[in-house]
Amino acid sequence: YTAELDASDIEKGTYPHFMLKEIDEQPFVIRNIIQKYQNEDGTVRLDDNIRQAMSEADRIYIIAAGTSYHAGLVGKQLIERIAERPVEVHIASEFLYNMPLLSENPLFIFISQSGETADLRGVLVEIKEKGYQALTITNVPGSTLSREADFTLHTYAGPEIAVASTKAYTAQMAVLTLLAVDTARARGIELPFDPLQELAIVANAMETLCGQKDQLEQIARDYLLTTPNCFFIGRAADYFVCLEGALKLKEISYIQAEGFAGGELKHGTIALIEDGTPVVAVATQAHVNLSIRGNVKEVAARGANPCIISMEGLDQEGDAFVLPSVHPMLSALATVIPLQLISYYAALHRGCDVDKPRNLAKSVTVE
Ligand code: AGP
Repeated sequence: YTAELDASDIEKGTYPHFMLKEIDEQPFVIRNIIQKYQNEDGTVRLDDNIRQAMSEADRIYIIAAGTSYHAGLVGKQLIERIAERPVEVHIASEFLYNMPLLSENPLFIFISQSGETADLRGVLVEIKEKGYQALTITNVPGSTLSREADFTLHTYAGPEIAVASTKAYTAQMAVLTLLAVDTARARGIELPFDPLQELAIVANAMETLCGQKDQLEQIARDYLLTTPNCFFIGRAADYFVCLEGALKLKEISYIQAEGFAGGELKHGTIALIEDGTPVVAVATQAHVNLSIRGNVKEVAARGANPCIISMEGLDQEGDAFVLPSVHPMLSALATVIPLQLISYYAALHRGCDVDKPRNLAKSVTVE
């Protein structure tokens, strides 16, 4: 597999939709990233200048939009836990209006599949004028955000054609993992895991998940065929993937979907739960397993139709879907795949245009 552009990458081949093809490519993309960023001795290799900028920054500001913003939320956790650097994540379109008090030596990371998103460019121009350094993580080196930043990290996902982002998201999180690991090494911090080995385990899990389409299609049929709305709940790292699961579902199936932290629903939104409202609960984190299952009971008692997606070792009887086990810090890379596939099949069976949803463009080049 190569992530360089060739004719087969921009054709659907035997696939009915680009989205399905791109979901299936994720195990190869992760393996490709491992290969591209691996030294001969099996350690991670990033640019020396990026390593220096990451190590010297006293605070990192991640700027992104949509799915890339959701990857940024996971990236914050990875960089803070692995490299012990403080990170803030901001929605690009709001950053200049609600600018935080910046630290003395900030580093800005722009995450963008296309590298062309206007909201991010607005921030990049402004922070470059102030003399700050910028790193762009993108799938399109040579794009505007890549050219105008000081450094670029390539996500090597190959062209992403479907409007709904799938493989770019998991590729961004894999690259953020390696960035965190490289920074930790430079700072002499002991790593919590062998990153390349754990990413290889993720790639294998992704392959297993991509082979479970029938089961996931059935879940879409059982829960999402006629519903007007759907909630996604999760705690800790699962919360971030719930935000992404909800965005995926709403953008291609037009079902009103929201992602919530498990404990937050009862502060208002639980009022929307009616008989049969689907609530997808993501439960892959051991330390919050009991509490998220408690939240499921709360919504079920109000008539919700809960669909629990858990992980091997944490699963209980009655869970709708159980993922193969991966490192808890990398769980979002695997967990998102059933959510992407459930969204795909929901959109398909509701007769929606999966690859080109209404009102949306692949890259948003206006503010
Ligand atoms: C995701 O499925 C979206 N279509 C959208 O949210 C997208 O992630 C966002 O517009 C950001 O795009 P970018 O990564 O190219 O900057």
